[in-house]
Amino acid sequence: MKTRVTKVPTSHELGHWADHRDDASSDLESWELPASLNEALVSLHEAGELLRTSDIPVGFPTETVYGLGADATRSAAVKGIYTAKGRPSDNPLIVHFCDLAMLRRFLSPAQDTKITQFNGSSSSTTTNGTNGTNGHHSEGEDPIPAIYRPLIQRFWPGPLTILLPNPQPSRLAPEVTAGLGTFGCRMPASPLARTLIQLAGAPLAAPSANASTKPSPTAAGHVLDDLDGRIELILDGGACNVGVESTVVDGLCSPPVVLRPGGVSLDELRTCPGWEGVEKAYKDQAEDGKKSAPRAPGMKYKHYSPRAKVVLYEASYEAGKKGVLAEDLDTVLEGFKTKESLPTVGVIRTRGWPAGASIPHHAVRDISYETSGPPETNGYGDSIFNVHEGELRDRQSGTRIGRLLDVDLGQDNRSVARGLFSALRELDRHGADVIFVEGVSDGEDITAAIMNRLRKAASEIRV
Ligand code: TXA
Ligand code: MG
Repeated sequence: MKTRVTKVPTSHELGHWADHRDDASSDLESWELPASLNEALVSLHEAGELLRTSDIPVGFPTETVYGLGADATRSAAVKGIYTAKGRPSDNPLIVHFCDLAMLRRFLSPAQDTKITQFNGSSSSTTTNGTNGTNGHHSEGEDPIPAIYRPLIQRFWPGPLTILLPNPQPSRLAPEVTAGLGTFGCRMPASPLARTLIQLAGAPLAAPSANASTKPSPTAAGHVLDDLDGRIELILDGGACNVGVESTVVDGLCSPPVVLRPGGVSLDELRTCPGWEGVEKAYKDQAEDGKKSAPRAPGMKYKHYSPRAKVVLYEASYEAGKKGVLAEDLDTVLEGFKTKESLPTVGVIRTRGWPAGASIPHHAVRDISYETSGPPETNGYGDSIFNVHEGELRDRQSGTRIGRLLDVDLGQDNRSVARGLFSALRELDRHGADVIFVEGVSDGEDITAAIMNRLRKAASEIRV
């Protein structure tokens, strides 16, 4: 199968929210396509056609990460996702909606036929709020549970996934929910994604568009690297703005819980009525097998992982005066002694590590690090960071003992999140054997998502 990457110029109009002047809360009611066709829409129409007729999923951008989308109502199409990703089908998938009208239609299957007739018109004869008068119907009529309303108002469209009861009878393909009574649902902030869903004519089930075990893709090139030859089409809408996946919340239990930290933070959730007491239902500590004293081997848990081995340094990790990476680097060098090649060491810095991460202060060998020439811009064209390439030399003899690749993701948490997966992939592309990552202290903001992903990607964690 030949995989095409189609650039979708996001400067064109991709769609707009229908204007329901009488009620501000109905902003998300109906996502409408532009009246006339433009260059961007042509490629989206083609992708929509594929989603309607083929069982091969389509790669598309969202604001969080690239997704691998399929019509959530067709089993054969959803199975195509698992085939392309090489992922076991025991994981539930997130279902993406373009607007509240599509979601409400979906949640009220009994009224489905009736409501479909009024889709896009200004008719006021529907009874469940799809007519653009959300907020005017009584409590019992809105199929979206009340607990989620403040979240929807504040965070949609955006990086938040809510769990909803799977309606019975359900139009969702059973492969989407993996046998659970609930399904994950989100409305992406990306207009490109919403227009694609509208053109597909159905909600899209979409996991991240990486091969199973790899870091999530935040640029079209990442998707191509993983799925070339396995899907027909990747829509390229540029680099993802958030860079980590959506926050998954369950408001159907009390207190409500966060199942996966992501683009919407715990402290933002807590500001919403009914969510003040939201609790974490995910692990936010280093897993025991990986939490190791320096150089003790850790367990290998494959998730979000590049080919290179990742060693994560928790922000609390203090290596003393002898250099943060001294002992670990020495282990790497020792390991390469018997090999013909020299090691390539990647370093991802965030807050405090200096360029080369203190390697000149190495305890055992006296190593110097020089950058060679200007930084290389990263190969995926997402211009989030540059890769500085340098040499590791024994200071006494001047002998080259390795190559160092240095990436600085900056101090700002949002930019760390944006560049994180891309940096892991970029260092892989440059041939890194090991990647040392400087962790950030995880709080109640996006740092929780950053550290959650890094702890999963790491085969060893220094605490
Ligand atoms: O940002 C995102 O959410 C991206 C983009 C493409 O939208 N999608 C994504 O999907 O990350 P995926 O399949 O890689 O992750 C789905 C997550 C899993 O952690 C899964 O356990 C959880 O959502 N999930 C989905 N449905 C669930 C359910 N019914 N109950 C509990 N967890 C669920
Ligand atoms: Mg994923």
